[in-house]
Amino acid sequence: MERKDELTEEKYPDSEQVISNIQERIVSPERTGYDTYSLRPKLLSEYIGQDNIKERLKLSIQASKMRNEQLDHILLAGPPGLGKTTLATIVANELNANIHITSGPILEKQGDLAAMLTNLEYGDVLFIDEIHRMNRNVEEILYSAMEDYQIDIMIGKGPAARSIRVELQPFTLVGATTRSGLLTSPLRNRFGMIFEMSFYSQEELQLIISRAAEVMGVGITPDASLSLAKRARGTPRIAIRLLKRVRDLSTVRGKEEIDIAMVEEVMNLLGVDEIGLDDMDRKLLKVIIETYKGGPVGLKALAASIGVTEDTISEVYEPFLVQCGFVARSARGRIATEKAYRYLGFSNLSGGLFDEPFSK
Ligand code: ADE
Repeated sequence: MERKDELTEEKYPDSEQVISNIQERIVSPERTGYDTYSLRPKLLSEYIGQDNIKERLKLSIQASKMRNEQLDHILLAGPPGLGKTTLATIVANELNANIHITSGPILEKQGDLAAMLTNLEYGDVLFIDEIHRMNRNVEEILYSAMEDYQIDIMIGKGPAARSIRVELQPFTLVGATTRSGLLTSPLRNRFGMIFEMSFYSQEELQLIISRAAEVMGVGITPDASLSLAKRARGTPRIAIRLLKRVRDLSTVRGKEEIDIAMVEEVMNLLGVDEIGLDDMDRKLLKVIIETYKGGPVGLKALAASIGVTEDTISEVYEPFLVQCGFVARSARGRIATEKAYRYLGFSNLSGGLFDEPFSK
């Protein structure tokens, strides 16, 4: 259980601003430290969604067991909140192995990684989150560790410095990254399996929500779980977080089952609409439409108008708006799409208030 806090409590200096901004957002896919690990599935058979990845993992895990060989190293790539840590934990469980969890930015020096590697026992799983953010000289240690289960570490400094070779126990590295393209090719090439995770469908999220409600010991009607699924931005972490807030209401009201009215009441309170947009998303779209006549508007100007940093817009708010087709990026800046106008009830592209709907 000590593994939980290593990931949730750390702060990365260059993204502190981003983290402080997103911590208040219920619809943020980033970790906030409130993740409930006991809700996570423990086995592949309990894991909902990512069917192709599950199939491929199942096959390779079974084969490695039959051959009595160590499972190849695995890279999990995809946006935050889709279950990369959960999958890594499942891989360890399926192998009956221990998992050691760390992250790229925590491993500042070669010695930090060497200490983790030499602590591994036979067959263990090492999970490195944000593996693309590891220092290059730390990363270099990983190459021989992954390939030959051995590392060369430098002892001492100057003329007295010498390198010693340390043999490691066979292990499986599970690396996680938000974008596989951010990895250097020597590192990428050392993974035997590279899985790109995708956003979850509404049906999958509905199942995840029902399962989580069951684990939490509260009932939920199908229309209530569907309504939550629609607001979860394709992301289980957000789905679970929204569910927890509705469960708070069920606890206070002494209700054993969550219904649609409770979902709507809590979502109104949180400012999360039917498709998962919150106040900040709507504000951003409105500023592009009203202040900048739909754009294009540069990131700098947009950030100043809304009162957040450029990074917060590009890393926190924008990805979902782009994915939904509400915002388009162009060389000259951000543009609000016709879909955004329609959704917010604007009738024309200069930002006038809705009078007549667009004709289809
Ligand atoms: N809880 C969070 N993500 C899940 C998933 N993919 N399957 C089952 N339960 C989950």
